[in-house]
Amino acid sequence: MASNGEPILQVRDLVKHFPLNQGIVVKRQIGAIKAVDGVSFDLHRGETLGIVGESGCGKSTLAKLLMALETPTSGSVRVAGNDLAHAKGAELKRIRRNIQMVMQDPYTSLNPRMTVGDIVGEPFEIHSEVAPKGDRRKKVQDLLEVVGLNPDHINRYPHQFSGGQRQRIGIARGLALQPEIIVCDEPVSALDVSIQAQVINLLERLQNEFDLAYIFIAHDLSVVRHISDRVAVMYLGKIVEIGKDTQIYDRPTHPYTQALLSAVPVPDPEGRENRERIILQGDPPSPANPPSGCRFRTRCWKAQEICAEEEPLLQIRPGADHPSACHFAEVHDVVHAS
Ligand SMILES: Nc1ncnc2c1ncn2[C@@H]1O[C@H](COP(=O)(O)OP(=O)(O)O)[C@@H](O)[C@H]1O
Ligand code: SF4
Ligand SMILES: [Mg+2]
Repeated sequence: MASNGEPILQVRDLVKHFPLNQGIVVKRQIGAIKAVDGVSFDLHRGETLGIVGESGCGKSTLAKLLMALETPTSGSVRVAGNDLAHAKGAELKRIRRNIQMVMQDPYTSLNPRMTVGDIVGEPFEIHSEVAPKGDRRKKVQDLLEVVGLNPDHINRYPHQFSGGQRQRIGIARGLALQPEIIVCDEPVSALDVSIQAQVINLLERLQNEFDLAYIFIAHDLSVVRHISDRVAVMYLGKIVEIGKDTQIYDRPTHPYTQALLSAVPVPDPEGRENRERIILQGDPPSPANPPSGCRFRTRCWKAQEICAEEEPLLQIRPGADHPSACHFAEVHDVVHAS
């Protein structure tokens, strides 16, 4: 992991509100779904930032904002110093080439009517400067080989591959334009556990080979542990805690992170006995109407009056070594899988 130099990705106060409309003929905005609500972080070259949180907390919306597939309501995304939101035409195209995505579901994200060669080579249609027409077949075959697929299978269709192999096809496509950043949105969530490890190992190997930086999204802390240098925990559109892997897994200070960690299975019986299980009550509230003050307060066992009145900022509190958005942030011993 290289953490010196200018970050390859800088995200500042990023907001995405989806308008909630009422009325069929005359549409009236009656509110907004606050899918992403003030997110800031840096990603360094060659680094992996894991992003974790329950379904609906805004992870995919954040991924789409980073890819310029959604326009932010406010805030900024800078890729290698270039402002993504305000770029247009050729400049936008150039910036986008540097940040590619691997999707969650290898069954629906690949066009069933296209051959693997066409799928992996499709980015070259838009960026022909990377691979002139005559070179493409060879380039695609090289990419298939790099992700561990047989280059002779270039003319096969997605249904002729297993789930894990299809995710490899998606990864090959993500690599085609030689980006410096890849956003992986739950890339292994749809795969069998045994296949998950293979795909994660592949991503790690590619990271070393091509010095890639990853945003690795998952709904489970155990999935990102192995691959992440740092982890951000999201709740209802906000980052509630962010830090190095050891800070998040060994010294979590936000009650939400502590609850997520206590739900991770513990393999050794001794750990199981010593650990305190924190059971989260209920589902997250609607992002259209988040609670006042701390958004986690309706499910937090430590909530006090101030939590409803004052929003806790994501900051390093006295005695702590990484930022946490809790008025009562403190290290809590959570025994977890090693
Ligand atoms: N295009 C959209 N229009 C309206 N609401 C959306 C749209 N995309 C996502 N949402 C809402 O934004 C919230 C966050 O969704 P999403 O980013 O997909 O979360 P996650 O990936 O963490 O499950 C959810 O409440 C979801 O219903
Ligand atoms: S600020 Fe209050 S409600 Fe929010 S996590 Fe901390 S203790 Fe819980
Ligand atoms: Mg999602």
